[in-house]
Amino acid sequence: MSQNESSQRLSPAQIDSLRRQALAVAARAYSPYSGFRVGAAVLLEDGSIITGCNVENASYRLTTCAEQSAIASAVAQYGPSVRIQAVVITNLNDAASQPCGACRQTIQEFSSPATEIFFPAENGSLTRATIADLLPHAFLLKEQ
Ligand code: THU
Repeated sequence: MSQNESSQRLSPAQIDSLRRQALAVAARAYSPYSGFRVGAAVLLEDGSIITGCNVENASYRLTTCAEQSAIASAVAQYGPSVRIQAVVITNLNDAASQPCGACRQTIQEFSSPATEIFFPAENGSLTRATIADLLPHAFLLKEQ
């Protein structure tokens, strides 16, 4: 995919396909403590799609969110140069939810200003945001 194509907005069909893949992986969530089953589908700029779900832990704070799980898998499968074109987050609890602060910082690491982030709104639709919307003044370990 060319740079130009990758910076275009996703079509409704692409968003729906990612949402379905996020729902499918949410069914594999390990969330015995919260009962909240989250799935994330990440579309990379080369067209690859990687999914992840939340994995909880009895110590609670060791929980891995769906977004972090998907992004870690993307790096493991495709290497450190992965760039995120879009990420769709969903859950099987019919709940509105937004990426947590830690996930925003994780998404930021592999995003561009054009990266599209979708998450469940109150009415069952998806809210679209950029990383700048979600994480202004992100921590960056480099000179800008
Ligand atoms: N969770 C995610 O996986 N992603 C989010 O964006 C929000 C929260 C998970 C963490 C925990 O397993 C459960 O949802 C409840 O917080």
